[in-house]
Formats: sequence, structure tokens, C-alpha cells
Amino acid sequence: RITGVRLRRILDSRGNATVEADVLTESGGFGRAAAPSGASTGEYEALELPPSEAIAAARKHAIPRLVDEAFAGDQRSVDGALRAADGTDDFSEIGANSAVAISMAAAKAGADVLGAPLYQHLGGAFRGENFPIPLGNVIGGGEHAKEATHIQEFLAAPVGAPSVSDAVFANAQVHGRVSELLDERDLPAGKGDEGAWAPPVSDAEAFDLMEEAVADVADDLGFEIKFGLDMAAAELYDDEEDGYVYGDDVKSTAEQIDYVADMVEEYDLAYVEDPLDEDDYEGFAELTDRVGDQTLICGDDLFVTNVARLQDGIDAGAANSILIKPNQIGTLTDAFDAIELANRNGYDAVVSHRSGETTDATIAHLAVATDAPFIKTGTVGGERTAKLNELIRIAEDAT
Ligand code: PGA
Ligand code: ZN
Repeated sequence: RITGVRLRRILDSRGNATVEADVLTESGGFGRAAAPSGASTGEYEALELPPSEAIAAARKHAIPRLVDEAFAGDQRSVDGALRAADGTDDFSEIGANSAVAISMAAAKAGADVLGAPLYQHLGGAFRGENFPIPLGNVIGGGEHAKEATHIQEFLAAPVGAPSVSDAVFANAQVHGRVSELLDERDLPAGKGDEGAWAPPVSDAEAFDLMEEAVADVADDLGFEIKFGLDMAAAELYDDEEDGYVYGDDVKSTAEQIDYVADMVEEYDLAYVEDPLDEDDYEGFAELTDRVGDQTLICGDDLFVTNVARLQDGIDAGAANSILIKPNQIGTLTDAFDAIELANRNGYDAVVSHRSGETTDATIAHLAVATDAPFIKTGTVGGERTAKLNELIRIAEDAT
């Protein structure tokens, strides 16, 4: 039984405040978790409130429904209490940031009571044997770094890595190799919010840099490394222009689909996230039809970890995978429901960090628990390596 919930403001990786929750139980269980925060947030995400408001509202409405009422190990009852306390679809009353911090902290307290690691508590005895391959953000721009690429993220995908640890170190090596290539070209190498290089280069140049860097590192390590993209195209799409804006160049939807399909062919991309606007199920379906057998077409802003939006996508044949960010929807239960619906319909569920993060490593456990094929959690930087290093520890523990 939960005997206490403490909430506080802590710093995130951008220097903004976010919500951290502690959950305590009668039998001495303890869990602590913090909410991440997006910059290129989807229009249909659950709502993040200013942390002090979210904390005040959760203290008033949610904590009384949890303390002496809910069991930390019964995740659905905890998350049901959060939903009931809030009473809205988008957590606009207590804030998705309070909700997700409490939800994840309760899961950790539940695991603590059982004396089991979190991935085991969440995944149970029937968890698969696979480990997620980390997708590493190596070059990026968009909303995460101004004056860099239009495409938000160029991601290393070490698909041939024999182990999680090999994959993690491969991504770091690709990141390092890109730095050398930038240096050779006399290009400055500042970093974006997720630790990716944010050089003042065109998207075409970034493709070339990625191609060269992954080839060099694959040669050195002796296993296959591909790369992928998060285009975050809702940020590129402009209603008034009725197209995707790349500086002076504007692409129509048909041109955008051709462009992405060509890049998939030319660079053998392993993964393409949000290639089209967050309302364009039809465009997603057309692109999936064209290249969905060669690559993952993943919906982030399109689906926002929301089962109703995912069901619309399944009905339309839009994308073949979904990005899972617990704070987009507010609770672990909602995230699990989205993963289950995805898997039942042959969609891969890829677990992801946000651009604003803390050292909280819950998503590493979530990815392992749910057999995610990929986890997107950056390449370097303390808040990113917190998850990557946790994955290495889990792999050691579980094999
Ligand atoms: P965000 O970006 O956390 O700023 O939304 C990450 C993403 O788009 O995947
Ligand atoms: Zn995204």
C-alpha cells in the first residue's frame, strides 16, 4: 500500500524545471522518477503544466486518491487513480508531467517491494530474450538546434551489433567520427539539446557525413551499422505554404513522399520517424506502401503514444511502427496499452527519450520489458548515457 507521495521541482538537461516524484509504501518500498519534456511536441500530446502548478494540482487531487488507497505493485490501479483524479483526456488538470512522474515512481516502488529489477516487474516472466538496439542521435537540428539541419535527427542504427554494449559503443564511435569529419571540413561542432552535433550544414551534407561515419565505424568494428532519421516533419510543414519548408525550398506532400522514398533507397535507411505532418495519415499510408517493407516508418507526433490515434493509423495503413514516450500520454498503463495494440497489429513499438531529460532511466527498463526492437535515447551526455549505461547493466543482469 502507498503511504506517501512526495513531489518536487528538479532541473532537467535544458536547465528547465521538471517534476520529480517519490513513492513510498507500507512495506518500505521506495521509487523515484522524473518527467522528461519535449521541444518538438506533438499537437495531440497530453499536456505538460508549469511544474509548480502541476505539483500543486497533483497534491490536491491525485495524492489523496493514492495514499492509503492504491498499491504500488498494481500499476493499473495507480494509473486509474491518476486518471480519475485528473478527469480530463489530456491530463490538463494535474499535468502529464506530474502524472508520468508518479506513474513511473510507483512502478519503481512496486519493483522495490518485490525485490525485482524494474524491467522484470514490468515485463514479467514471459518477457522475450531480445534487447533493444539503441538509435543514437548523431547529427541534428530542427527544434533542437537552430541554424543546423532542417531534418531534426540523423540517427546511427547499429543493426548488426552482437550485444547491447557493442551497439552503445558503436553509436558513441559514430558520434566521435562525425566530429573528426566536421573538423576536417573546418565546420564548427556545437551540440543540440540531445547531444547530437549541430553543424551549419545542409541536409544533403548531413546524409554524406552519416554515410561516411557509419561506414568507417562498421569497417572498424566488423558489424553492420545503418542510419535513420527523425524528420519531425510537423515542424517543417507550413499550412500557408501548403508544404514542407526547407529554407527557401518548399516541398509539396507528393514531393516530400518522393524525397523520403528516394533517401530510403539511396542510403538504405533503417528507420524514418515522422516523415510527414502529424495529421497526414494518408501521406503516411502512401509512403508506408512504397517503402514500408524496407524500413521502419515510425509515428511519433502522428500517434503521440495514444491508442485512439494508433487505431486510426492501423485502419489507414499509416506507418509500421509507433514511438512510445510515456509523458506524451501520461501513464505507464497508457503506454503499455499502446505497445500492446501496436504489437497485435504487427507494428513495432520503439521506446524513446525526450529532448529535455533527467538521469531517470525508466525507459531503458520499459524497452527491455516490452521487447522493443529499438530504443531512442541519444548517444552522449549524462542524461542520455544514464539510459544507455542502464541498458548495459540490464543486459548483464538478464543474460
Ligand atoms: P522532443 O523531440 O522530445 O523535443 O519532442 C524528440 C522527438 O521528436 O522524437
Ligand atoms: Zn520525433
